[in-house]
Amino acid sequence: MKIKYVTTPIYYVNDLPHIGHAYTSIICDIYARFFKLKNYDIIFLTGTDEHGQKVENAAKNKGIEPLTFVNSVSKNFVDLTKNLNITNTDFIRTTELRHRKTVEKVWKKLIEKDEIYLGSYEGWYSVKDESFFQEKELKEKNGIFFTDDGSKVDWLKEESYFFKLSKWENKLLNYYENNPNFIQPKSRRNEVISFVKSGLNDLSISRTSFKWGISVPEQTNNHIIYVWIDALTNYLSAIQYFDDNEFKENFWQEVVHVIGKDILKFHAVYWPAILMALGISPPKKIFAHGWWTNEGKKISKSLNNSIDPNKVISTYGLDQFRYFVTKEITLGQDGDFSEKSLINRSNSDLSNSLGNLIQRTLKFVEKHYENAMPIGVDSIKCEILESGYKLLDEIESNIENFEFHKALEKIWKFIADLNQFIDEKEPWRTVKENKLETAETLGVLLESFRLLGLILQPFIPCASEKILNILNIKDNLRNFDYFNKEYSIKKDTYFNKIEQLFPRFNV
Ligand code: MSP
Repeated sequence: MKIKYVTTPIYYVNDLPHIGHAYTSIICDIYARFFKLKNYDIIFLTGTDEHGQKVENAAKNKGIEPLTFVNSVSKNFVDLTKNLNITNTDFIRTTELRHRKTVEKVWKKLIEKDEIYLGSYEGWYSVKDESFFQEKELKEKNGIFFTDDGSKVDWLKEESYFFKLSKWENKLLNYYENNPNFIQPKSRRNEVISFVKSGLNDLSISRTSFKWGISVPEQTNNHIIYVWIDALTNYLSAIQYFDDNEFKENFWQEVVHVIGKDILKFHAVYWPAILMALGISPPKKIFAHGWWTNEGKKISKSLNNSIDPNKVISTYGLDQFRYFVTKEITLGQDGDFSEKSLINRSNSDLSNSLGNLIQRTLKFVEKHYENAMPIGVDSIKCEILESGYKLLDEIESNIENFEFHKALEKIWKFIADLNQFIDEKEPWRTVKENKLETAETLGVLLESFRLLGLILQPFIPCASEKILNILNIKDNLRNFDYFNKEYSIKKDTYFNKIEQLFPRFNV
């Protein structure tokens, strides 16, 4: 059986869910659903990143234990996953035992392989970003230093364990060279290569400045494993790396990490180096998507302009939101979120082109053909319908390469062709004079709707389900095995009552 393992980043619990979280999850969901429908065995992992100083501080401010705090806030992300209708097969929390066991195992292995040493670190540290900054990256105001994002940094000196990252420089460069598809899109790949070529320092991987995290195993000096090492390891925890007998290595060979561009360095440089040091192969693919702005403005705490995906969904609907974020921008590039563009896209592509076409056709079939399939399409030769059957193969490589907008363009070209077809065939006119020709026109359209209902499932699952329900397609005939003429709608199949697919919104 073919398999795939797809992951979102694990989300920081100290933030409320925003469009960034929703976006990554939706991308992964489309990918996972598509290949599930192609009968792949899928592990789809998402979860929450629950350790570190920020969480420790947030809990302290509330006067509660960190664990009590994370137990309540990680629920926001579980809820978001449900609201987005995400088909994750697992949800990992870094406070779980399976994760601690994995992190400890990773640490011990790196010690055994002489990849870790104890040293000391000093530099400008930002609690907010949980990382050190070089002075050239900072701005000074009244003797206080700030990062580009405005977070304050303090001079910190501490003992720290280090991972020998510097020695992996050439091996990483070779890996990028030999695996040209490892980092996508291409522009990001070039960025990573020049970062590594500019030289790598060893990586500080423990902290003594906070307690909320996983302790460095077998030591007495109060070191906590740095959150990034802790976080990245989640991808191994979920496939039982901690247990030699249970480790699902076959899934690891197929893993694809989908992330935002801001965390590419961690995933494309530090993570593969750690994995190589452990003797595990680097991930198969890392896809870094761009960032959303809100009505042209950068989303930031200080502007208080975060976009709450739950609110967008309750106002405009889940499919509208999912469709907008996948169609609006080429995956990998930045994009702007505005309610006006969402409404326009929804009205034009979903309500007008797709919803209206299906609705008017079915109303017509209800009126003139007793709401049943007027004819089988087996013997009908029709170019448009033939092009419909080819769509699935045509978009597969687009999905594999995260070119979702291209896949959607091809599907909407088919929808546009169908709209043109009905306008040219004029069934409302031919029905009076030529019942057979009219039946053929409708047969082509209705069978095309079945294809649309099937192929749109990964993108707009709610509307697809409605379409397939209306067409009376059995639940067990909805995966991509049935995307062919052999399973076309049979003559006299009764349809269910038509319901509105996409409401129109006023701008
Ligand atoms: N906890 C780390 C990830 C560890 S993975 C081993 C983290 N969490 S996060 O909650 O801050 O970010 C999660 C994701 O949201 C990242 O992929 C990030 O790129 C994405 N986004 C945050 N803001 C965003 C936008 N405005 N637009 C699009 N995505 C953005 O980083």
